[in-house]
Amino acid sequence: RILILDYGSQVTQLIARRVREAGVYCEIHPGDVGDDFIRTQEGLKGIILSGSHASAYQEESLKVPPQVFQASVPVLGICYGMQSMAQQLGGKVEWSDHREFGYAEVRARGHTRLLEGLEDFTTTEGHGMLKVWMSHGDKVTALPPGFKLMASTESCPIAGMADEERGFYAVQFHPEVTHTVQGEAMLARFVRDICGCSGDWNMPDYVTEAVERIRAQVGDEEVILGLSGGVDSSVAAALIHKAIGDQLTCVFVDHGLLRLNEAEQVMATFADHFGIKVIHCNVGDSLLAKLAGVADPEAKRKIIGREFVEVFEAEAAKLTRARWLAQGTIYPDVIESAGAKTGKAVAIKSHHNVGGLPDTLKLKLLEPLRELFKDEVRKLGIALGLPPAMVYRHPFPGPGLGVRILGEVKKEYADLLRRADAIFIEELRKATDETSGKNWYDLTSQAFAVFLPVKSVGVMGDGRTYDYVVALRAVQTSDFMTADWAELPYSLLKKVSGRVINEVRGINRVTYDVSSKPPATIEWE
Ligand code: XMP
Repeated sequence: RILILDYGSQVTQLIARRVREAGVYCEIHPGDVGDDFIRTQEGLKGIILSGSHASAYQEESLKVPPQVFQASVPVLGICYGMQSMAQQLGGKVEWSDHREFGYAEVRARGHTRLLEGLEDFTTTEGHGMLKVWMSHGDKVTALPPGFKLMASTESCPIAGMADEERGFYAVQFHPEVTHTVQGEAMLARFVRDICGCSGDWNMPDYVTEAVERIRAQVGDEEVILGLSGGVDSSVAAALIHKAIGDQLTCVFVDHGLLRLNEAEQVMATFADHFGIKVIHCNVGDSLLAKLAGVADPEAKRKIIGREFVEVFEAEAAKLTRARWLAQGTIYPDVIESAGAKTGKAVAIKSHHNVGGLPDTLKLKLLEPLRELFKDEVRKLGIALGLPPAMVYRHPFPGPGLGVRILGEVKKEYADLLRRADAIFIEELRKATDETSGKNWYDLTSQAFAVFLPVKSVGVMGDGRTYDYVVALRAVQTSDFMTADWAELPYSLLKKVSGRVINEVRGINRVTYDVSSKPPATIEWE
């Protein structure tokens, strides 16, 4: 096992991710754990010290526990981790008010096990060079005793150092980010070759370990989880159920703005197939009554969010033996809500599922997916036996069709939209792209229909119609922060529009949204 000590960098989780990708088990712990903690780590093979915003030579900044350097295991310091290592082992770190950020070309110096054979290009003088992502203000200006120079740039003469005898390595740049081209290889080299981890750890092992952790955490207490049918809460439910079986109760709030047959599918998968206890709360038309006359998107979001929380809380309050509230929080949610708290991220829309449920329930929080990225959550879902169609589902917003019906939400509109949307999704799944061999549902990141409460004239048979419009939206994106509209084949659009207009009486016009984000958002509201 590899221990990652976190000094507060935004990208510490990426270190963990790269280590897991190298097939090695790792854990992240706060950078100020005591010496005893390090001493009592069983099976410890190596330690990685993360970056930080702080300055290593300031008095108040976190110190690396001295035991780290006495544990007789290799240590890799990254950025702040390097400066701390230098500072604490007798080198020199100097403060600078000039921060250097971004792409840099680093020259590998000497022969070190960490960088040997890794290079992106060679200069005309024959120097092996690495393309890296650098971020530093302070820098190491004198090597600690026993260390040799491992890498340098013009503005940062000591960009890497090593004491190979003791297995200490440090780099000023960030090997964990993808901009550092050989970063993945460096981290794999460190954990496998230098620390001697075998590299055969995988998702099924993760399941075993996560199950043990949940059991140890929860004991014989009971857990409640709000199941939405989305990927994260579904994987969390399956994982926790595997760990503690009937000690888990899921609450599925059906606010009446879900997609066609969605509630039935969720119940069939979780209650029938997995045998998980799921309470299906159907709020019926009560939410629609509260939404009557409300056209403003943010006001609608608040009403739907509040309804969801109230129903959930009422249900949870009945489960008097529950001590834990489980949530499918994943790592990007942690960053996003941290950003929201520090005011760094501007709230464009209030996403009620980030930030979670209120703390009035007085429950302890169980978040078994907190350290995973989305694609890892999906792999975990597959390892747990969830159906691929559920694991590779497009995201669906918490307020559901409430933000896909423009303006006031009415039952009639929701019913029409549900049917049009189901046709669109069905055809996307059926249509295969010849070049990639994949279906168009898998080729898009999010696709749905939007209901426009305007009427336009049409003609059907001999008669004139005066009916509603739906817009189809399909986007491709990797992070949902920016997105391109998907170039769906005309034949597919034609099929969908033909079916929607023929099968959904009340809709006589279908349009396709060709706006990218930004400036448009993915949802229409
Ligand atoms: P936008 O529309 O902001 O959407 O480009 C980005 C992603 O966020 C989803 N989204 C929401 N999710 N509650 C949610 O849980 C919301 O209120 C909400 N609004 C947008 C959207 O579906 C897309 O995946």
